[in-house]
Amino acid sequence: MNVPAGRWKYVATRLAKEALLRVPGAAGWNASRHGHRTGNMFDPTEVYSLFDGHVKRLQSVRESVQGWTGLELGPGNSLAQSVLWSLLGAEKIFAVDVQRYATAESSPGVYQAIVAGIEDEIGKRDWPDPLGSAGRQVRESEIFGGGLEFPTLGSRIEYRVTDGRTLPLEDQSVDFTYSISVLEHVRDIPGTYLEMARVMKPGGAGSHLIDLRDHHHPEPLDFLRYPTGLWDRMTGSSAGWTNRLRASDHLRAIKEAGLTVVSYEPVKTDQIPPRSELHEQFRKLSDDDLATTGMILVLGKTPGGPA
Ligand SMILES: C[S@@+](CC[C@H](N)C(=O)[O-])C[C@H]1O[C@@H](n2cnc3c(N)ncnc32)[C@H](O)[C@@H]1O
Repeated sequence: MNVPAGRWKYVATRLAKEALLRVPGAAGWNASRHGHRTGNMFDPTEVYSLFDGHVKRLQSVRESVQGWTGLELGPGNSLAQSVLWSLLGAEKIFAVDVQRYATAESSPGVYQAIVAGIEDEIGKRDWPDPLGSAGRQVRESEIFGGGLEFPTLGSRIEYRVTDGRTLPLEDQSVDFTYSISVLEHVRDIPGTYLEMARVMKPGGAGSHLIDLRDHHHPEPLDFLRYPTGLWDRMTGSSAGWTNRLRASDHLRAIKEAGLTVVSYEPVKTDQIPPRSELHEQFRKLSDDDLATTGMILVLGKTPGGPA
């Protein structure tokens, strides 16, 4: 086994965890735990803050989402972002994940908290508010007619499951897309951007946060030390598996899918292992690519883009 020097103990620990996950039933348990434990959608303050980022980024393309249909890729344990878009005037949101992680139990209290705080947040953060308070009351009773524990699914918010390869949506059926810490987990990135381009309407936009760090090790780029076969054996059964693609891989796939990059802000680290310690497939990365551990992206589909 091609284990980098000084990494035996860590590799052995990861391989042992992976072996446990291959026990029947354990991978499903880990996946549901992952859905429950990752992300920040338990905490209303974080929910608002992440939502604020999406609002400001999408405003660079269009002032408000009133009447727009959205796609949330990978909502994980909570549909809070979808609820907020709906309360701010989106016509409909499709929340698409590989499993229905979000349940009434998976993010307790979150919907009550965001509904209770939304009027203040709109004022404080200066969000566009096409519905106004009265319209929002109506919208709230549509979404939460069954109680604030969980949104009623089907009319304003639809929850759909993907096989991870295709998006279960019609061609040109959504105006905007968004995701938080999802695209680093997707197995087929070129295919996923192609699917995004297929389902987006011309003139549509997307706001995506991609976390390019190692999700298992405290060093953000530790995972670039391992050959692919070993990396997959170390993490392949874990719901937190990441594809290890770099910023340039995403930008290339976006372009090849026919989408445009409206804006791109890289997040950088200075904790970079010496190139000699990286696996050879990562040694030739540019300095910029190596230092980039996050992407804040606004994507567009120009009217002349893919049909
Ligand atoms: C780290 S969690 C983030 C969840 C949520 N966005 C948040 O910030 O709390 C990653 C999510 O992406 C989902 N995911 C992974 N591959 C996917 C795919 N191909 N299509 C849609 N969702 C996917 C996972 O199931 C999981 O819910």
